[in-house]
Amino acid sequence: KYLQEDEISDECKKLLLTLPKERGWLASHIYNYQGFWVAPRFIQGVIACQQQFQAQDSDIILVTTPKSGTTWLKSLLFVLVNRMKYPVFEQNHPLLVKNPHDLIPFLEIKLYVDGLVPNFASFTSPRLLSTHMPFASLPKSVQDSKTKLVYLCRNPKDTFISLWHFTNNLRLHHKDIHPIEEKFESFCKGVSLYGPFWNHVLDYWKQSIEKPNKVLFLMYEEIKVQPKLQLKRLAEFLECPFSIEEENCGVMDEILRMCSFENLSNLEVNADGKLSTGEENNAFFRKGEVGDWKNYFTIEMSEKLNHIIEQKFQGSGIKF
Ligand code: A3P
Repeated sequence: KYLQEDEISDECKKLLLTLPKERGWLASHIYNYQGFWVAPRFIQGVIACQQQFQAQDSDIILVTTPKSGTTWLKSLLFVLVNRMKYPVFEQNHPLLVKNPHDLIPFLEIKLYVDGLVPNFASFTSPRLLSTHMPFASLPKSVQDSKTKLVYLCRNPKDTFISLWHFTNNLRLHHKDIHPIEEKFESFCKGVSLYGPFWNHVLDYWKQSIEKPNKVLFLMYEEIKVQPKLQLKRLAEFLECPFSIEEENCGVMDEILRMCSFENLSNLEVNADGKLSTGEENNAFFRKGEVGDWKNYFTIEMSEKLNHIIEQKFQGSGIKF
């Protein structure tokens, strides 16, 4: 579905003619809209969302760049926030039968895709939503309301490798795979889905420092190293901290176990199912490890990206 361009409205096609474009990762081209790179089908979703979405103060929106671990954080968020409604030790938890992307939908990729008008009637409060949109392009009501934003960031080297695999995987029927060198150059130039990667990360990082009650900045690697601590941070930020009883009963351990790569990737729904948007659920579970980039990067690639990371992130306080 990412590849279909026939759903694009005439108005959006006209807009595309005016935008800078480069070779795409999924569709044949990727366009620069409001300073970020996005596949043509999703520009329409971005615009519809910007024009129509009315945020509520109680909304919780997960923001990521693609392949930062969105699927993992969606599971953690869903289980954490709904733990009164769906106790974690019960057998028939929704996470066990639905893919996390069906539990927390993307605004521009799912709810508003192709200019659809979503019906929020079935959502309970707090509404759990997600997006890849950069901070400056978020609908105004999200910026103006008390909506909480949870931002997840991942080391750019692993993010790139994950993105390269994912996009090749979704393009399988094209038979050819994108040469890694070509896509690496694009990534370094900032031409990646919702990139430049550094702008996306730095904008939310800045917001998390200026407005710590509005934006929580999490790192994939830190959740791997200190899962309980980061889960606690998340619960406190969302104003649903763990009680002493919960801590004593092992609720945190159970949430982390349920949402682990091993548990999720082996569930029938994730091994064999498909999303309503058409992607195979197993495309979202590849390795789930830190440092897989070492199996793909040459020394030159590593040095080149190190140099960019140093340049872009120096003085920010972000350490990869
Ligand atoms: P890899 O390709 O490095 O394995 P996103 O969810 O943003 O699309 O990111 C997908 C990446 O997160 C993939 O990385 C995937 O394997 C990893 N992932 C998915 N579920 C995970 C989990 N429960 N724990 C850790 N990583 C997970």
